[in-house]
Amino acid sequence: MKLNIAVLPGDGIGSEVTSQAVKVLKAIASEFNHNFKFTNADVGAIAIDKYNNPLPEKTLDLCRSTDAILFGAIGHPKYDNDPSAKVRPEQGLLRLRKELGLFANIRPVQAYEALLDKSPLKKHIIKGTDISIYRELTGGIYFGEKQLSKDGNVASDLCEYSRKEIERIAHLAFKAAQMRKHKVTLIDKANVLETSRLWRKVVAEIAEDYKDVILDFLFVDNAAMQMILNPKQFDVILTENMFGDIISDEASVIGGSIGLLASASIGEKYAMFEPIHGSFPQATGKGIANPVASILSAAMLLEHFGLFSEAELIRLGVDKSLKLNISTPDINTKYDNVTTGKVGEFIEDFINNPSDTNMN
Ligand code: IPM
Ligand code: MN
Repeated sequence: MKLNIAVLPGDGIGSEVTSQAVKVLKAIASEFNHNFKFTNADVGAIAIDKYNNPLPEKTLDLCRSTDAILFGAIGHPKYDNDPSAKVRPEQGLLRLRKELGLFANIRPVQAYEALLDKSPLKKHIIKGTDISIYRELTGGIYFGEKQLSKDGNVASDLCEYSRKEIERIAHLAFKAAQMRKHKVTLIDKANVLETSRLWRKVVAEIAEDYKDVILDFLFVDNAAMQMILNPKQFDVILTENMFGDIISDEASVIGGSIGLLASASIGEKYAMFEPIHGSFPQATGKGIANPVASILSAAMLLEHFGLFSEAELIRLGVDKSLKLNISTPDINTKYDNVTTGKVGEFIEDFINNPSDTNMN
C-alpha cells in the first residue's frame, strides 16, 4: 500500500517520540512491502518561534494533501504561566482538529499484564481493564465563544453542542461496542448542564438502533471515582470534549504511565494519530520520554487503513519490550539506561525478525 504520512513532531519530546514511530513504520513498510512516504512540518511553539503562527498554512496544506498525520506533542512552559499570551501553541492543535474535522478521538486504555505492578492502583482492581474512550473533539467548551470583559475581571467560555455533533460520534461509539463487549457508558453532567441533557436524549435515541448494546449513563464526577474504583466495568466510554480530556488522563494511571496511551482522531476525510500525553518539557532532549504512545499511535494509523497484521506485529513488539523491561524510566525500575531510542530500536528489530528478538 502507498501512504503519504505527514509527520508533525511539535514541541518538547514530540520529535523524539515521533522519530521512533517513524522508525517502526519504516520497518513495517520494508517487511510488508509497503511504500510509506513521510513529510515533516512544524506546529505549536516551534512554529510560533519560526512563523509567529502555531499552525502555518504550509503545515495545514500538507495535512490536507496527505493520507494520514502522525502528531507528536504540543506546548511550551513559556506560555503556560502567561495568561496574556495572544498566540499559544495549543491553538495549533485545536485549529488542526477543527479544520480537518477530526470529531472523534479514540483513546484505548488497557492494563498490560507486564505492568500490573507499575500502576499505583491495586493489581486486582486494574487487571483485565480494556476501555475504549470516544471523546468528541471539535465541539463543546473548547470551541465555544470566549470572552473577557473590558476591565479583565469577568471571563466566559461557551459550551455548545448540536444534535448532529453528538450523533456522528455516538454512532461510532455504538459500532465500536458491537465489536467489543457491547456496552456504551455516556459520561456527562446531565444533572446540571443543558448540553449534557441533549447528549443523553440524542444518545438514548441512537441506542434504539443498536439493540445489542447496553447503554449506561454516569455523571462525570461519579465516573472519575468509578474509573479508579472499578475500571473493569467500562467497555466503550462516550463523552464530550473536556470530560474526555480529563477522564483519559485519569485512565492512563491504569496502564502505569501516560507515556503508553495512543489515540486516533478521525473525521469524514482526514485522520490523525497522536499520543494523549503532552510535550513533557522537563524531559526534552534527555532520551527518557516513552515512545510507546507514539508507536502505538502508528499502529492505530495502520489499522485505520486496514493493515491489521502490520499493526498486530507492532503491538507484539510493544508487549515484548514491556515484558523484557526494554522501557524508559517512567515504567522501568530494573534498568535505568533504556533510552527512547533503544525502545524504538528494539521494536524495529522485533519487526525485522519477530522470532529471534530475545533479550532474556
Ligand atoms: C490532549 C491535550 C490537548 C487537549 C491540549 C494540548 C490542547 O491535552 O490532546 O488531550 O486538551 O485536547
Ligand atoms: Mn489532554
